[in-house]
Order: sequence, then structure tokens, then C-alpha cells
Amino acid sequence: MVAVPEHERRRLESIADDAQPLDDLIERRLGGEPLQYIEGTAAFGPLTLDVDPRVLIPRPETERLFEIAAGMVRSPEVLVDLCTGSGALALALKREFPGSAVFATDISPEAIEVATENRHKTRLPIYIAEGDLFDPLPASLLGSVDLIVANPPYVAEVDFADLPRDVQQEPRMALVSGPSGLEVIQRIGADAALWLRPGGVIVCEIGETQGVSATSSFVDLPAVVRQDLTGHDRYVVAVKP
Ligand SMILES: C[S@@+](CC[C@H](N)C(=O)[O-])C[C@H]1O[C@@H](n2cnc3c(N)ncnc32)[C@H](O)[C@@H]1O
Repeated sequence: MVAVPEHERRRLESIADDAQPLDDLIERRLGGEPLQYIEGTAAFGPLTLDVDPRVLIPRPETERLFEIAAGMVRSPEVLVDLCTGSGALALALKREFPGSAVFATDISPEAIEVATENRHKTRLPIYIAEGDLFDPLPASLLGSVDLIVANPPYVAEVDFADLPRDVQQEPRMALVSGPSGLEVIQRIGADAALWLRPGGVIVCEIGETQGVSATSSFVDLPAVVRQDLTGHDRYVVAVKP
């Protein structure tokens, strides 16, 4: 018989109560619901964010993206997080650089709701706007952004069915980009240089097989690939000349 691993059981025990008996929580987990959705929270660096099926659960790879990006800028004034989801990257950046203006965008109204809830919860004042990639940003930011971070959807449609059962419970729009998986990355790469100031940095998460195609889609930027902590290609990084 399949059982919930002991470390997960202990976490479920700690949130069980009369309204949510342990047996019910275990049943949900055995039914494939991600542990963080059952708990209602996920850790992202020093932050504890609310998460639910409206948003992707922030991943360790994206915490690493934050570390790489934060290490590449000094006293940034304007930061942009495209595809913000729960607001994880934007909120972590605001905490790290309190004097900066942080803009976060997402095309999903549900994700915008969660990011707004997390802004309230963390009391980190970021700007949040609904829309497609750069579209909701004020035009006044063109050519002046110090850092763009993005963890876009990068799974190909055909690969969705092969994702683990609990990952398939996360929003499809957060995972699947289109037929190739590269569609959103390519659109970010096409426009990033327009928004960055000279010397500005972009760090974009990618799938582990996408390094070559992803870097070539960054227009007017000398893009390189960096690896995650497991040694897989995971990020496109570029500094605008
Ligand atoms: C992989 S999730 C990343 C969420 C969060 N940044 C994180 O790392 O946990 C991708 C997010 O991109 C959003 N998204 C998908 N297509 C988009 C688009 N064209 N413009 C803006 N956001 C988009 C999805 O709604 C989802 O919240």
C-alpha cells in the first residue's frame, strides 16, 4: 500500500485539527495534491508565501535564480519580475533591495490575486500588474531597468502528460508555453534589451535542454547559459552592453 513519506506525514500532523483531520489531509496527499497546497504555504528563501492551485509552487531552482540575479547588481533602482506567479522573485528582490522599485507582471488574474495577497502578507511594497510579459509596464521604464528576472512557462505541450502527477495539478498556464516550450522565453528574449539600461542584467529560467535555442533568442544581448545546483542548464544570463 502507498504511504505518505514520514517527513510529509509529520508536516501534515502539524497542521491537522478538528476542521482538517489528519486522515483527510493524508487522503488529499495520496490523491496527488501537492504538499504545499495542502499546507497553504511555501518557503522561498527567507519568505513564507501563501500558495494554492492558482499559482505555481516556487522551486529551489528559482531560489538559485534569485541568488544569481541579486549577486549581479549593486544598488539597483528598477527591477522587473515577469511571470511573477505567487510574487516570489519580486518580493524576495524587494526584501533584498528595499530602496528599489520592483514591478511584477503576470497574465493570470488568479496569480495576480495571490501575488497581491503575498504583498500584503509580507508587507513588501511592490507594483503588481496583470498582463502579457512587458505590456503592463510603464513606458517610462524603457531603457532604464537594472534587472529583469523571469521564470516563464517552458514546458512543451507534448511533455505535459509526462510531468509528475502532483506537478500536473499546478496551473497549466504556469507550466506550458506552447508547442515547443520556447515560445514565452523567445518573446522575453526579443524585447529584454529594449527595457534594460546599458549594464542592466537579465536572468531567465529555462528548461535543461533549451540552452542553445534560448540564448539565440536574446536579441542584442550576449546571452550565456548557467547551471543549477544539480549541474543542469537552467538559466540564461545576459548583461546589456
Ligand atoms: C513557471 S510560473 C513562475 C511563477 C513564479 N515566478 C515562480 O517562480 O514561482 C510562470 C508564470 O507565468 C505566467 N505567465 C504565463 N504566460 C505569461 C505571459 N505571456 N505573460 C505574463 N505571465 C505569464 C503564469 O501565469 C505563471 O504564473
